[in-house]
Order: sequence, then structure tokens, then C-alpha cells
Amino acid sequence: MFRLMRERPQDEAEVEWLYDTCFAPGRTALSSYRLREGVAPIPELCVLARDEYDAVAGAIRYWPVQIGPARIPCLLLGPVAVHPTRQGEGLAALLIGRTLETAGELGWTRVALVGDEPYYRRFGFNREMGAGLVFPPPTNPARVLGRELQVPGAWVGVAGEVQRWEGEVRPG
Ligand SMILES: CC(C)(COP(=O)(O)OP(=O)(O)OC[C@H]1O[C@@H](n2cnc3c(N)ncnc32)[C@H](O)[C@@H]1OP(=O)(O)O)[C@@H](O)C(=O)NCCC(=O)NCCS
Repeated sequence: MFRLMRERPQDEAEVEWLYDTCFAPGRTALSSYRLREGVAPIPELCVLARDEYDAVAGAIRYWPVQIGPARIPCLLLGPVAVHPTRQGEGLAALLIGRTLETAGELGWTRVALVGDEPYYRRFGFNREMGAGLVFPPPTNPARVLGRELQVPGAWVGVAGEVQRWEGEVRPG
């Protein structure tokens, strides 16, 4: 019933409206947003779902970030949101599953996020893989999660400050 498509520039206002509807006021003041400022999201991984009325029912975006002094590449998952009237139908699972698959195809090997472990562990995220990451304060370390993509051991030895991406974006 949902049509998944890549977000286009003309979809931006609807997606922002969805995020404003789904998240608490002041969402852009969250520390993870500092990592997105002035950096373009990954176009192939910004996906929305339109329902049978053509309304945006769910959306996901990803940003590239770099970790530690070696500036190791990593994806930052989110925001992801589903309209309250469409929650519980597996739409977020569809968006997350589809985009993680695409991320692997693009050559990304690790993903991080700040979110609820009880929700994200079903997609393979856990605290162990995010354990060495330092997000901009204030971030609750218990909500920092990581997941490997394609490459087992992609998080081994990866630790440090999570920073805004600088330079040309290359998956890794
Ligand atoms: C979180 C969110 C994206 C899930 O969307 P959804 O399409 O309803 O998700 P799904 O249908 O794939 O999964 C629903 C299941 O996840 C569970 N779930 C949802 N949020 C959860 C959470 N924070 N912690 C644990 N479980 C959660 C639901 O209880 C439901 O469980 P069930 O399958 O046992 O019934 C949606 O609730 C939302 O937009 N919330 C507000 C924005 C938000 O918090 N985004 C995530 C930021 S980290």
C-alpha cells in the first residue's frame, strides 16, 4: 500500500512537516543535528513512503559522519519517522531495512545512530558497536548504537569523537 521513493527537493517541506509532527518540539536542537549542519544527506538513502492518498506517511534520511582523528567514515541513521496514524504497520522497518541494504550496496560498512536500543536491536544495532563513539554533548551514551554492514569486524578499533563530514563523501 506504500510507495517507497527517493526524496526529491520538492518533497522536502512535506518530510520536514512529518518530522515536526512525529518528534517533540525543538528536535533540531538535539546534539546529533550539529553533525548534519552544512552537510548534505546521502541522496540514495533519503527515502520516503507515500500512502494511497499520496501523503507522506514515513521518511528516513542518513548523513555521513567521520570518527576519531583518523576520520573513519560512518553513516548516521536518522531521522526516521512514521506518521502517528500509520505507526505499527511495519513501515519504519521497511524504510530502515531497504535503506540499510542500499547502504551496503553503496559500499558503507558501518552505521551509527542515537535512539532506543529496544527498537533498533531488531535491525542488528547494539550498544557494543557504538561503545567507543563520543557524540556531541549532551548525548546519552546508552542511546548510541552501531551496526556493521557487509564487513564483519567493521567496528573493531573504531572509536572517538563523531564529527561532521569534511571533504568529498566516499563510502567506507
Ligand atoms: C519509531 C517509529 C519510527 C516506528 O515506526 P513504525 O512504522 O510504527 O515501526 P514498525 O511498524 O516498523 O514497528 C513497530 C513496533 O516497534 C515498536 N516500537 C516503536 N517505537 C519503539 C521504541 N521506542 N522502543 C521499543 N519499541 C518500539 C512498537 O511497539 C511496535 O512493536 P510490535 O511490532 O511488537 O507491535 C515511529 O514510532 C515514530 O515515528 N516515532 C516518533 C519518531 C521517533 O521516535 N523516531 C525514532 C527516533 S530514534
